[in-house]
Amino acid sequence: MINDTVLIIGANGQLGSVLSKELQKIHGKDNVIASDVYSSSTFDGVFEIIDATDIKAIENIVNKYAVNQIYHLAAILSAKGEKNPLRTWDLNMKMMLNVFEVSRTSNVKKVFFPSSIAVFGDKAPLENTPQSAFLNPATVYGMSKAAGENWAQYYFNKYGLDVRSIRYPGIIGYQSMPGGGTTDYAVDIYHSAVKQEKYSCFLNPETKLPMIFMDDAIRSTIELMQAPKKNIKTRTSYNLGSMSFSPIEIASEIQKLCPNFKVEYNVDFRQEIADKWPKSINDDEARKDWNWKPKYDLKLMTVLMLEKLEEKYNTTTLK
Ligand code: SER
Repeated sequence: MINDTVLIIGANGQLGSVLSKELQKIHGKDNVIASDVYSSSTFDGVFEIIDATDIKAIENIVNKYAVNQIYHLAAILSAKGEKNPLRTWDLNMKMMLNVFEVSRTSNVKKVFFPSSIAVFGDKAPLENTPQSAFLNPATVYGMSKAAGENWAQYYFNKYGLDVRSIRYPGIIGYQSMPGGGTTDYAVDIYHSAVKQEKYSCFLNPETKLPMIFMDDAIRSTIELMQAPKKNIKTRTSYNLGSMSFSPIEIASEIQKLCPNFKVEYNVDFRQEIADKWPKSINDDEARKDWNWKPKYDLKLMTVLMLEKLEEKYNTTTLK
């Protein structure tokens, strides 16, 4: 067991709710402080309500528990962010800068700040997008992540704050639901299949995007945070590759196990967001610096997603 006290901001979210439990296994139940702006009825452990736009609120909890690591996962995602651009910028930037600033002025030694494939835009090569590709994000969410990456590097260079970051692909898990993202369809589609409902997809059938299974996303985060400091050469954010597929490919993988499953396509504004994102990611740096290697592909993920959701819904869709 590692003797750190860890604060998770955004612990009720898609990633936070799963990561909190994994961190409890590593650091011990009492050394993980889960927090979110709303209370949690399901979390088994220490939980605090924090509005991360309020720097004092973060500071109080950091002092109360002598926190020395923060995972800052709270943000408004790509699709939701476009509904209210200025509020998205304000919230995402304020929360992120509050976390960096509290960390700098307190005993926090290490910070995890998630970035995203959304930092890229149509000036980057969209196949096998390199780590150092030009960043011209088209969404406010992507802009806030690109700015956040530079702030992460700034706090490292200027103050020595050990900020580490990953540009996540779309995250797909059975444990929790995403909210407000463009890659959310790839979670929703499994729920529809298990509920034996036709799925209405908001992206067109050929839209290929980079994705990752939750277990790999969690493992990547923990491996990056546990890597020796000297190995972390990228202080903006690491590209992270795993799998890439389009709606028609995930649908046909599901249909191998649920032959009656049907998808219809009702494309909306999220198509325009997806069209400017990478289709696949080059993650050579993450592989080289901290030995990143994904374990799950579309086939294996589909089997697990359907099995686990079936248990959840207690239905029998599988052949
Ligand atoms: N999954 C996110 C979104 O779709 C991308 O980081 O907004």
